[in-house]
Amino acid sequence: MTRYLSLAIILAIISVSCQPSVETNTPSDQTISDKVDSLMSLMTLTEKIGQTNMYNGTWEFTGPIPADNGSQEKAEQIKNGMVGAMINVLSAKATREAQKMAVENSRLGIPLLFGYDVIHGYKTMLPVPLAQAASWNEAAARQGAEIAAREAASAGQHWTFSPMIDVSRDGRWGRIMESAGEDPYLSSVMARAWVQGYQGKSLADPATIAACAKHFAAYGFAEAGRDYNTVDISDQTLFNVVFPPFKAAADAGVATFMNAFNEINGVPATGSTFLQRDILKGAWDFQGFMVSDWGSIGEMVTHGFARDNKHAAELAMNAGSDMDMESRAFERELEALITEGKVDVVALDDAVRRILKLKYELGLFEDPYRYCDEEREKNTLLARENLKGAREVAQKTMVLLKNEGNVLPLSKEVKSIAVIGQLAASKDIPLGNWRGQAVSNSAVSLLEGVQSALSTQSKVSFAEGYVLSKGTRDFIHELDIQPGNEDGFPEAIRLAKSSEVVIMALGEDCYQTGEGRSQADIGLKGNQQQLLMEILKVNKNVVVVLMNGRPLAIPEVMDQAPAIIEAWFAGSEAGNAIADVIFGDYNPSGKLPVSFPYHVGQEPLHYDRKNTGRPVTNEFDNGLVFWSHYTDAPTEALLPFGFGLSYSSFEYSNFSITPKEKGATITVEVTNSSNVAGTETVQVYVRDMVATVTQPIRRLVDFQQIQISAGETRKVTFDLSEQDFGFYHKNYQFYAEDGAFDVMVGGNSRDLLSMGVTLSF
Ligand code: NOJ
Repeated sequence: MTRYLSLAIILAIISVSCQPSVETNTPSDQTISDKVDSLMSLMTLTEKIGQTNMYNGTWEFTGPIPADNGSQEKAEQIKNGMVGAMINVLSAKATREAQKMAVENSRLGIPLLFGYDVIHGYKTMLPVPLAQAASWNEAAARQGAEIAAREAASAGQHWTFSPMIDVSRDGRWGRIMESAGEDPYLSSVMARAWVQGYQGKSLADPATIAACAKHFAAYGFAEAGRDYNTVDISDQTLFNVVFPPFKAAADAGVATFMNAFNEINGVPATGSTFLQRDILKGAWDFQGFMVSDWGSIGEMVTHGFARDNKHAAELAMNAGSDMDMESRAFERELEALITEGKVDVVALDDAVRRILKLKYELGLFEDPYRYCDEEREKNTLLARENLKGAREVAQKTMVLLKNEGNVLPLSKEVKSIAVIGQLAASKDIPLGNWRGQAVSNSAVSLLEGVQSALSTQSKVSFAEGYVLSKGTRDFIHELDIQPGNEDGFPEAIRLAKSSEVVIMALGEDCYQTGEGRSQADIGLKGNQQQLLMEILKVNKNVVVVLMNGRPLAIPEVMDQAPAIIEAWFAGSEAGNAIADVIFGDYNPSGKLPVSFPYHVGQEPLHYDRKNTGRPVTNEFDNGLVFWSHYTDAPTEALLPFGFGLSYSSFEYSNFSITPKEKGATITVEVTNSSNVAGTETVQVYVRDMVATVTQPIRRLVDFQQIQISAGETRKVTFDLSEQDFGFYHKNYQFYAEDGAFDVMVGGNSRDLLSMGVTLSF
């Protein structure tokens, strides 16, 4: 059995991680490390503290700095070398001006680092991260991040606060939209792809930016799906579910981590030595730096963990937070804390060393203005190739949920189409929340996409039908969701009646998901569903297009509508990509990265649940109540994790398992029994039948996406190792236990071929 780190080793590493960072042998690292050392030998204590300080920079650098909003003071601090990084300084021009202040005025001329929330694009919007995860396609996720990085870098940004790789099992949590969904393995694959996409082969390439794995850790486990809420979580879940995507990001070379707003088992993540020093910088030997979340150092006072801002600074720095975003705690308190001996200068040196290392890696000491090229910015933002890429990525994120009677794909010879719903004409909602510098109302709407896919021979008409939201719609304000009136119904019904086909958009305003956007109900808001039912009475040929950033509880829609496409918030090219799927120019290949429930009361719902002593399968259901179920709702998902149809149909056969040393080789044949070529994602799940810690009834361990021509059969092979059969035990020890396993293979987490095997490790 392979045993990873024992607690004793972890503790040894922790003490090492408080020392100056370990130097590696590669010549370039050696050079950077030497440069950092010699720069640090020139720095005063105050200058070192300055490097750990980040300011928000929303004031206007291109004009006189107003005296009354703190900007003047901030500018002075930059000139004094008291600022290491800035967030929200946008454009090549603004970053140049800010950089100039630091480089030309401060004693040592250390360049600033500019960071921004480039979550799914800078100006060209890619599909939201949850949608990208639905592609189950590493190359697509990488391509999306590359586009985002290219644009952000051209606008002066060095660093994105992305990817968010919090495993998210609760559809009520608004930030599930920013995640890769409920599964640790899929989230790990996406984490790697996003990091590689942002950072490219080298951070020294000015078309790449540094990434930030966030939020470390367990932010997705907020009680009741309410944002910022308390997290109480077992070590088992933490090690086996929450950590893996972060470990994958670290292994992929992510430059930075961000801690989290939440407390975890009584300790705010920002003040957690266990998370930041023991695990991240200790067990994982992470050499980058940890930035706090916005104000999360100061919020430790509100949590009831720190007495005041000074105490919070002490706890955060000692626990391994290296940079303070917007609490102004390090800036104001660290000097005194070091003088008083409450923070060891070794911890500060370690933080500064990590921050300076990234600045060297980005090439900022060679040329602090290398990202500040206005000409490049002009040529890069919204460049044709970026939009083309956004459309290609968006196509891959669409999930076909239902296609009764092969309603889809629609023929382009269609005579008349009624496009219905506020969401269908919206050029804004598809952009999603956390939309960088996207121009409002700049997406291709579903209506536009349908119009441009068809010739003038086809009549396309539109009716709004329902109104979902009104008034101010932006990142910071509450959204005004409309209860719904029926004023638009008659026109929508009239068009539906007189058209050959109806395309109806249903779902959410994009500002229903994102930070601070938790919902107690995850069904359709307003009277959208009511209108759908009215329309189905006059025309059965209805294609529903869902736009949403979370799993929806929509059993009636699933039951009644003949065809349903999950389109998420698909970005700048949304309408074109959806039309590509509707008219068969792209054969859908997406699979759900989250389970869709029948009812919100099932949340948090995830396929990799435990069996319990009284399982949810109905083996105890002989009229008695004594089994794990709901009496008023189904227990299983409406749509399982990994589910997604295609215009092709795939059949699985000849499943075999051959045990090998410390693992097994799996083969299965997949036949495309339809007459169109298609893409299938072959998924492998494992269950350890009896273990010293009870294991999930199945968990994803591998998948392959394959193209299969019409009528073709392809044999797919998976090599599973101890890594796939094992799990983290106590004290972060990883190994597999000998004994019986079930191995399952199929096209989603519910419909699987299954076979038992006995293995030893
Ligand atoms: C708070 C969010 O939690 C975090 O994800 C984001 O990067 C920061 N704000 C900065 O905007």
